[in-house]
Order: sequence, then structure tokens, then C-alpha cells
Amino acid sequence: MSDVQEYIGDGLQRFTEEIFDFLRIPSVSARSDHDTDTRHAAEWLRAQMIAGGLEAEVIDTPGHPIVLGEWREAGADAPTILVYGHYDVQPAEPLDLWDSPPFEPEFREGRLYARGSADDKAQLYLHVKAAEAHLKAGGALPVNLIILAEGEEEVGSKNLVPFVEANRDRLACDTVVISDSGMFAPGLPALLFSLRGLAYCEIHVDGPRADLHSGSYGGPIVNPAMALSQILATLFEDDGRIAIPGFYDDVLDWDDRTREGIRSLPFDEEELAASVGATLSGGEKAYSVPERLWTRPTCEVNGLLSGYTGEGAKTVLPSRAMAKVSFRLVADQDPTKVYELLRSHVSNVAPEGVTVRIEELHEGLPWRAPIGGKHTEAATTALRKAFGAAPVLAGEGGTIPIVSHFERVLGAPALLIGFSLPGANEHAPNEWFPEENIEKGIRTLAYLYEELR
Ligand code: BES
Ligand code: MN
Ligand code: MN
Repeated sequence: MSDVQEYIGDGLQRFTEEIFDFLRIPSVSARSDHDTDTRHAAEWLRAQMIAGGLEAEVIDTPGHPIVLGEWREAGADAPTILVYGHYDVQPAEPLDLWDSPPFEPEFREGRLYARGSADDKAQLYLHVKAAEAHLKAGGALPVNLIILAEGEEEVGSKNLVPFVEANRDRLACDTVVISDSGMFAPGLPALLFSLRGLAYCEIHVDGPRADLHSGSYGGPIVNPAMALSQILATLFEDDGRIAIPGFYDDVLDWDDRTREGIRSLPFDEEELAASVGATLSGGEKAYSVPERLWTRPTCEVNGLLSGYTGEGAKTVLPSRAMAKVSFRLVADQDPTKVYELLRSHVSNVAPEGVTVRIEELHEGLPWRAPIGGKHTEAATTALRKAFGAAPVLAGEGGTIPIVSHFERVLGAPALLIGFSLPGANEHAPNEWFPEENIEKGIRTLAYLYEELR
């Protein structure tokens, strides 16, 4: 075994303790009452990068800071790898559904439970340790390395996009590597060829100045909750398609080879249905389940707010109603255009007697990449060495907003290689990361830097 791999075996206990320390910091980017914690996570990460042998700084933004670690002594001939990850996490609520507190990491039955264990703090940290292994065991990395960690991924990466644009020279690289996704199945790693994009907004319907007695006023006064329901009902067709005119204009068809590849994956529909306690009868039935998840857009209601929802009956005509509505997008849809289409559609269908307002919250572009070539080979070799298995090529339904900007601004292809497992409860109670993938992940990434040389 190489010195680097030996260093990883010897250091595993300490690496794990450090991951626990990182996960104890509740870096919830959406919550301003956690701003001090979020900054603390950034400072902590910078200190660990420096201890691992990188140069590192915390860079302020109008929101949460960016942490940039660098090691550039591999020489001008060696390629430059940009690793991206995020140190912010989603809110942990509802807390009563966690079996152990979200910010008190713990191992149970081979799983590390904590908010941020899969998404994305532990995965990001695997890169810091893989870099340290090269630097401490061998005195050098085989590549020039930049580790870019942001604290606003879970709230839309608004400040990272201008940062990347303003620092295109400093961030210039040959390949982007991201570990913020999962394997296809236990023992079966995945390389991603796509992510969906996102357009997320609120639809507000305003009616009378205040809540009214539904007997004294019901009839002539339009009910905002009813008006909102009417509007929402016009967003869908019965066949699972989205009914907004023009919505599919920019949806690209996928090539036969990729569709064929997706259909040939050992995708277990029954297990998916059982794991969530629901059937898979939604969406466009002409497409297989993984195609619906990865290659087709959706419209979802994420939350509804109106009227009286407490105990018992209250005869009330609510003054307002609100829905949080999001669209998952696929290449080449653009969130800005989707908002425009939604606005004009809603203004066409909104009933008289209420005021409708749409507030845009956050968005991300879809990403789709041709797979193949030397980067794919490098990742395949690295995964084979650490996991004893070559990866499958897969898509992903979630969004990482910065990925398409990396390709646009830096012109470098992205390699999405993640180590969580299906059912990791990302964004949900009891988020977990497979214990064995702490070691296998660090080993894979240490091999990957060599293979990308
Ligand atoms: N890591 C996820 C995206 C993801 C999920 C990749 C599952 C692979 C598998 C990321 O942190 C995330 O949650 N993104 C948000 C985007 C957002 C808040 C703008 C998402 O997809 O909802
Ligand atoms: Mn993530
Ligand atoms: Mn996330």
C-alpha cells in the first residue's frame, strides 16, 4: 500500500472525530439566528484546511462566507482540480422526529446520524482529508488543488455566482470535482450525468382587508383560499404534464443511448415505493421512474397557508392565502423564463375579486453533461480501487445551483462523485451517512487526485 493510503488507515480515527466536531456546529444557512454558527463552521473549516497543509482563507460575501483552500505547488504542467462543496445545512426541524439530536452526531448500526452528514459537510470534509493524506504522507499533491466551500448552497448560492465570475482567473481549473450526491446502491457507486434545476416561488392571493364571518360575507366576497386552489389546479394536466403554456418549449429530448442506459440500470421501483410508503403513479407515465426523476420537469406545491387550521370548526372567510410552489427543471429550461411563463399564465387564470402576487425565492439552472473521456476513466479507476466496483452512470433529481455556472464561467467539466446512499434522509429527520464510506470516500478521492494527474 502506498504511504498515502497507509496514512488514511492510520488517521481514520482522528478524521472521524473531526467530522463529528464539524457536524456539531449547527451551520443552518436559512436561519439568521444561526449566523454565528455558520461563520464558526467556515472558520473551523479554514483552520482544518491549514492544519492539513493547504493555504486557506475565509472570504466574506454579503451573505455567508466562502472558504477557499489552495495548494498550487504541483507545477504548471500538472492539472488544477477545483473541489466544490457546501458547509451549510438545512434546518433540522421537526426536531421531535429525530432519534438522536441532529447536531450531536452518533454512529448507530453502521450509520453516522447528524444533520449535514450526507449533505454535505462530511462529504466535503473527505476531500480535505484526502488532500491532507497526500500532503502529509508524500509532501505533495499530484495536482494543483483548490477547495471552494460555500455557506449558501441550501439557500440558492446567490453570492457564489458573482464570486465565481469575479474570480475566474484564480478559480481557473481543468476539472471540477463535487461530492454532494450519493451512490446508486450499497456497493455500487455512481457518476452523475445530470442534475435538475429549480425555480421556487410563493403565490400570494389577497382578498378582503381582514378575515370575515363566512356567513355574513360568504357569496359575493371571493374567498382567497378558493381562488388559490383554482389557480393551483390549472398548473397540472390529468396526464401528469404541466399545463403552463410554453413550459415544455425548452425541454430537450434525451438521446436514445442515455435513455437506454437509464432503463438498463437496476433501479428498484418496488423498494423505492416501499421506502417512502407511497405508490409511484405520479408524473408522466410514458417515462420510466428514473427518467421521471432525472430527465423530466415537475411542478410541486411545497406548502400551503390559509384560514383556520386549529382544533374544531371556525366559520371564516380568510383574507389571504399563500402557496409555496417550485419547479424542477431540465436542460435547457431557464428559471427566469419559467417565472415569466408562470406569471402570464397565473394572470390569465386568476379569478376576479382577489389580487395575486408572485414572489421569486431562489433558483438553480439544470445541468447535463456528456459522460466519457479521461475524467470518467480516472473516476472509474479510483472507485474500483476503493470500492472494488466500477460506477454506473446516473442522473439526479436534485439541484446544485453552481454546477452549470462552473462550466459556463470556468469552461471546466464537472465530475459528480458522491458517497451517501439512497434513503439518506437529506433535508429530513435522521439524516445519515454510511460509516464505511468515510474511509472508502477518502481513499477514492486520494486515488482520484492521482488518476487526474
Ligand atoms: N446536495 C443537494 C442536491 C442533491 C440532492 C444532489 C440529492 C444529489 C442528490 C443540495 O444540497 C440541495 O439540497 N439542493 C437544493 C437546491 C436549492 C436549495 C437551491 C435542492 O435540490 O432542493
Ligand atoms: Mn448538498
Ligand atoms: Mn441539500
